[in-house]
Order: sequence, then structure tokens, then C-alpha cells
Amino acid sequence: MAFRYYYADIIRDKMPEFRGTDEELQERIDNISLLYNSAIKVLETRLEIISDDFDKKHSYMPIHHVQSRLKTFESIMEKAGRYGIEDPINNLDTVRREILDIAGLRVICNYEEDLQTMSNLLLAQEDIEMIKVKDYCDQPKESGYRSLHVVVAVPVYLVNTKKMVPVEIQFRSIVMDAWASLEHELRYKNKGELKPEIVSSLKECAEQLHYIDERLSKIRHEVLKDDNKYSDY
Ligand code: GTP
Ligand code: MG
Repeated sequence: MAFRYYYADIIRDKMPEFRGTDEELQERIDNISLLYNSAIKVLETRLEIISDDFDKKHSYMPIHHVQSRLKTFESIMEKAGRYGIEDPINNLDTVRREILDIAGLRVICNYEEDLQTMSNLLLAQEDIEMIKVKDYCDQPKESGYRSLHVVVAVPVYLVNTKKMVPVEIQFRSIVMDAWASLEHELRYKNKGELKPEIVSSLKECAEQLHYIDERLSKIRHEVLKDDNKYSDY
């Protein structure tokens, strides 16, 4: 019990403006954590099932690995502030409507062509709602970043209610993920600031890696002697 309330204490120290008791604050933090963690579990399981069935049908596993993360409460509040949500701690419903990456999943696939296949298969499930898609493969970001971002809402069944919970999924190829991880690390180590020469070198690397990604995919088809036979999904 001591541990449970310790967390609300810390939050309240940073955000004394919360109108309510520590117990109420703790209840809200616990609610968010239960809902979004459950949504992550649902999606991880569904992706694993799709991947297993895909392997059974095609003797091929498009997913290399999956990573997940839940934003900390402090970081949710910080982002809400950045998004201009007033008094976020007393308006958690607004925060949950506006901040769509409280729960995040990163699905690392082998090849670029697998991203669309996997996201299509997931979105085809009738109880999964598509909230938004940002295709940074077709339209890379200014930095050179490539990835397919899909925000979905997934059903989470609690004791006597069903909640649709948003999760941001980043579909990346192994090569895209390698670049994004290294670039993020460099930026982070340098407190978010990189010199323009470095930024442009990194962008050039992203372009070269994109070329490599496409080449690897062609080699794969040569070796397997097929076209992308999964592109129908
Ligand atoms: P945020 O407020 O940052 O969440 O922006 P947004 O809601 O517009 O989302 P966006 O589609 O830009 O995706 C944000 C996430 O994508 C980040 O948290 C990173 O994980 C990833 N991302 C976006 N741009 C870059 C980039 O240039 N480099 C790296 N390494 N990751 C990026
Ligand atoms: Mg984000």
C-alpha cells in the first residue's frame, strides 16, 4: 500500500494543482496504466497470432521482433502541456482523447514490403478501429526518418465494461529501425541538438539505407524465386 500512494505523492509534489485526494489521483493513474498496458497486451497477442498463421501458410515470419512502451505519467503530462491542453491533470479525459501515443508498439519487420502487409492484416480485424495513418515511407520526414505509423483503437474488456483504447504502432523494417535507433541515440546524447552538417549526413545515410533496403528485398525475391506473393493482403 505504501508503494501505491508513494507514486501519487510524487506526482502531487510536481503538480500541486490537482483537485482531489491522493487516493483519487492514484485511482486515475492506476486506471490509465491498466487500460493502456492491457491494450498493448491485446495487440502483441494479435500480432503474434497473425505472424504464426502467416508462417503456417507461407513458411515465412514477416515480424522480426516487437517492442512496447507505456509513457510515464510525468511524460504524458509534459506532452499534454506541449499540446496546449490547459490544466491537464484535472482534465485527464481530454488528455486521453488528444494524446494518442500513451501506449506505443514498435513492430520491426524484415523487409519494407512487410510493413503494409502486417498493418493491412491487423486493420482488417473487425473490432480494431483505425484512427490515423502517417506513412513516412512514402513521405520520409525532413530528418530522413522512415516508418509507417498507424494509430488504432483496440477493445479492452474489463470486469463489466469494454473500452476502446488508442495505441500508436510504428511499423519499421530492420534497416529503418537501425537508422532511427542510432539517430535517436545521437540526438538524445546531444540534448536534442545536432549541427546542420550532422543532420544532413544522417539524412544521406537514411537515403543510402533506403536503397539498401530495396536491394535486400530484390535479393530476397531472387533467392525465393517469387514476386511479392503476399502483397494481396
Ligand atoms: P510527437 O509529438 O513527437 O509524438 O509527434 P507526432 O505526434 O507528430 O508523431 P510523429 O508521427 O512525428 O511520430 C513521433 C515518433 O516517431 C517519435 O516519438 C519517434 O519515435 C518517431 N520519430 C519521428 N521522427 C523521428 C526522427 O526524425 N528520428 C527518429 N529517430 N525517430 C523519429
Ligand atoms: Mg510520439
